[in-house]
Amino acid sequence: GPSAPRDPERLEPVELAVVACGSRLEETLIMLKSAVLFSQRRLRFHIFAEDDLHAGFRQSWPQRFHSKFNYSVYPISFPSDSAREWKRLFKPCASQRLFLPLILKQVDSVLYVDTDVLFLRPVEDVWSFLSRFNSSQVAAMAPEHEEPHIGWYNRFARHPYYGKTGVNSGVMLMNMTRIRDKHFKNDLTAVDLKWADLLMPLLHKYKLNITWGDQDLLNIIFHHNPESLLLIECHWNYRPDHCIYGSNCISAEQNGVYILHGNRGVYHDDKQPAFRAVYDAIKQVRTKAIH
Ligand SMILES: *[C@@H]1O[C@H](CO)[C@@H](O)[C@H](O)[C@H]1NC(C)=O
Ligand SMILES: *[C@@H]1O[C@H](CO)[C@@H](O)[C@H](O)[C@H]1NC(C)=O
Ligand SMILES: *[C@@H]1O[C@H](CO)[C@@H](O)[C@H](O)[C@H]1NC(C)=O
Ligand SMILES: *[C@@H]1O[C@H](CO)[C@@H](O)[C@H](O)[C@H]1NC(C)=O
Repeated sequence: GPSAPRDPERLEPVELAVVACGSRLEETLIMLKSAVLFSQRRLRFHIFAEDDLHAGFRQSWPQRFHSKFNYSVYPISFPSDSAREWKRLFKPCASQRLFLPLILKQVDSVLYVDTDVLFLRPVEDVWSFLSRFNSSQVAAMAPEHEEPHIGWYNRFARHPYYGKTGVNSGVMLMNMTRIRDKHFKNDLTAVDLKWADLLMPLLHKYKLNITWGDQDLLNIIFHHNPESLLLIECHWNYRPDHCIYGSNCISAEQNGVYILHGNRGVYHDDKQPAFRAVYDAIKQVRTKAIH
């Protein structure tokens, strides 16, 4: 028969990672707030941020949330021989996520999200995909597009990409133990390479051809290792692209949006009022100690 539900407080914490630079402090705090608000599980936040944002992340968090999460704040760091090159690739600091398996060496698995993500369901729901990985899967992401007619990768990319329309790395679930252990097929050498040895040669080969920075590198990696990716549906990473050109995320029509990803700056302008309204609503939830 069914076993008694396990006490969520006693399970291992869900590990959430984010990389914040520039003007993203408030947006990141609201993302973290959304994670705390809806989650029953204990959470552990790994916050990578530019030095001048550290104090903002260490501000006192609401007392009633203290039992629910822990956090660590880390500086942005890259392999020293190539730090400048990595920082210039794409938006400042975005490629930090590629190095999470190498920096968080003691952490088994992590959910990476962009700062402009909002959880509308408990974080543990997406976390539970980890236990559904088959033996070859190391990561889970949603497609970049549902509809090839408006897809970016299939129309414009000058490099290999995953599947029919590529993947979006704004919500990326990683079993980092597996990422660290795996030897990845690639188009750089005849031998399979470990994650640590793959990234820089890949950047060198493709740096003139990539547009979306490290997301493009992830697409190249999983193009050559498709058996290692679990593709999750678009309601786990719902973006303006899913509604700007008409509704094209069927799983969100059926289930609702579980994770909202307000890229294109839509939380901060008036182009997508529904995205902004959700952001503002979570921002306004009263959490005494923050203001
Ligand atoms: C936070 O860390 C402390 C000490 O490492 C631990 O006792 C506590 O259970 C942690 N809390 C959460 C919510 O993980
Ligand atoms: C990640 O993969 C390792 C190696 O297969 C496994 O031991 C571990 O339980 C996995 N982690 C999760 C959260 O499933
Ligand atoms: C980069 O793009 C150009 C133009 O499409 C192509 O000829 C070249 O092979 C690409 N480079 C790589 C490494 O794929
Ligand atoms: C795991 O699932 C992927 C599809 O996501 C598939 O390509 C791969 O062959 C599967 N691996 C195993 C060992 O069954």
